[in-house]
Amino acid sequence: MTPLSPLSDLLDDAWSMLARGVDDPADDLHWPVLATVGQAGDGAPFADARTVVLRASDRDTGRVAVHSDADAGKIAQLRTNPSVALVAYHRPRRIQLRLHGVADLHVGDAVAAAAWTALPGHSRALYAGPERFCVIRLRILQLDWLHIGPERPLRAAFTLGDGPPQGRWIDP
Ligand SMILES: Cc1cc2nc3c(=O)[nH]c(=O)nc-3n(C[C@H](O)[C@H](O)[C@H](O)COP(=O)(O)O)c2cc1C
Repeated sequence: MTPLSPLSDLLDDAWSMLARGVDDPADDLHWPVLATVGQAGDGAPFADARTVVLRASDRDTGRVAVHSDADAGKIAQLRTNPSVALVAYHRPRRIQLRLHGVADLHVGDAVAAAAWTALPGHSRALYAGPERFCVIRLRILQLDWLHIGPERPLRAAFTLGDGPPQGRWIDP
């Protein structure tokens, strides 16, 4: 990727990085950080974040997915405020992907059942059972691609929605 790369190449690159991250536990993008908005006892919002495993990505629907225990703190947070960010750094390529979006929660429905069925036994063992298994689907509203190398940083942002993605260069 060079400063002359068309924006569309960077979006293609981001989606192929996400697909590889789902498939390859040795890939840095398999282990992103999911950020949510928490609520303190007095109702004040606070930023929260944790490492997760990237479980699915789907360019056609503009979504990625993460699994969680349905009783986890992040699920309670997301029920109150579905705003999310997912960030990962691919160290060999020096690329950060940052996704902003909205979370849809799936517990005890067809989406959760299909994901549970596809889950290998060692991953199922992490959960108390299918009734406590939640698929968090992130509908991506903005995707940010950033390369930081020895030369000037290269950054592009894409707005995803109903129409074709809109990309633009960002500095800084
Ligand atoms: C390498 C690693 C991978 C993790 N993957 C997940 C995951 O896919 N889903 C998940 O809910 N928690 C995962 N966790 C645990 C979370 O980071 C977090 O501790 C837990 O989900 C509770 O967070 P919460 O209280 O904000 O819900 C992972 C932790 C580590 C260190």
